[in-house]
Amino acid sequence: MATQAAPRALIDPFGRTVDYIRVSVTDRCDFRCVYCMAEEMTFLPKSELLSLEELEQVCRKFMAMGTRKIRLTGGEPLVRRNIMQLIRNLGAEVKSGNLDELTITTNGSQLHKMADELVDAGVKRLNISIDTLDPDRFRSITRWGDLDNVLAGLEAAKKAGLAIKLNAVALKGVNEHDLADMVGWAGAQGFDMTIIEVMPMGDIGNENRVDQYLPLSQVRADLSKRFTLIDSDYQTPGPARYVTVAETGNRLGFITPLTHNFCESCNRVRVTCTGQLYMCLGQDDNADLSSALRNGGEAGLEEAIVEAIGRKPKGHDFVISRRAPAASVSRHMNVTGG
Ligand code: 5AD
Ligand code: SF4
Repeated sequence: MATQAAPRALIDPFGRTVDYIRVSVTDRCDFRCVYCMAEEMTFLPKSELLSLEELEQVCRKFMAMGTRKIRLTGGEPLVRRNIMQLIRNLGAEVKSGNLDELTITTNGSQLHKMADELVDAGVKRLNISIDTLDPDRFRSITRWGDLDNVLAGLEAAKKAGLAIKLNAVALKGVNEHDLADMVGWAGAQGFDMTIIEVMPMGDIGNENRVDQYLPLSQVRADLSKRFTLIDSDYQTPGPARYVTVAETGNRLGFITPLTHNFCESCNRVRVTCTGQLYMCLGQDDNADLSSALRNGGEAGLEEAIVEAIGRKPKGHDFVISRRAPAASVSRHMNVTGG
């Protein structure tokens, strides 16, 4: 079979260059956040997961096609067995300049013991999900999480020299009045912070999306009572819009997938732990990289990626409404990765 030379860049039909992949390395998590999971979750059998070696092969294939940044997500990526092996191998590519960045989105539960190792492996930045600094509310949002443990992890990460961004999901009537304290605390710690509007992803059991939904316009108005928020021209290709908090000098991002469209500058795709490639977080269309790799080897994998990028959609269509309160995208965030 004639193999073509690898294309140097992945460009989608709307002219967007895809150079960033987010890879979910496990669907499992040691927390059960109310907006993310039902309390009783059935996780995938191990046999369906890509092995760490296969995940690495997929990452390397994307790198050969122009990917410069990789984010590992989950579930909770740091609870996957032997995950440091993958992190070390990809981190080596950062050290040698083949990747600009390897970042991790984590709930922080393992950081008290893993922060130093991560730095040693080549990780420089983490996104840490934490929705409140109130221990009781932290427990009720995560169902299983322990705030002190996460705070110890944050401290360890900071000491190890990792740059930290906090991600907080805004939940109506739950943590809405904790966010101002968090902004102040993040500023004092030197952490950037992003507030995320709750997204309609996956069945979450008895919880109701409509009840959880808190528009960030309201959060911003509340925060403005305590802080001076200055619009910032800082931009990333991602969905966040940023302000600078004058009182702390720190950056604060707002991600409003439901009220704004952020798709024009989208540079990313997502790979699940089972090897499905999702071209858009808000659409169900995907490509099966697992069978492509297992049946077609490197060439099959490459072909499947090129073909899939060729149908990356223009944008998402999330909806939360009274008429359709169920999840509008049926998979859970822990499968696709945040
Ligand atoms: N809506 C918004 N954010 C979510 N996350 C998980 N599920 C949802 C949801 N339904 C967030 C986590 C984490 C990131 C990976 O995604 O809190 O910060
Ligand atoms: Fe786990 Fe993150 Fe989902 Fe919470 S939001 S249950 S920490 S994967």
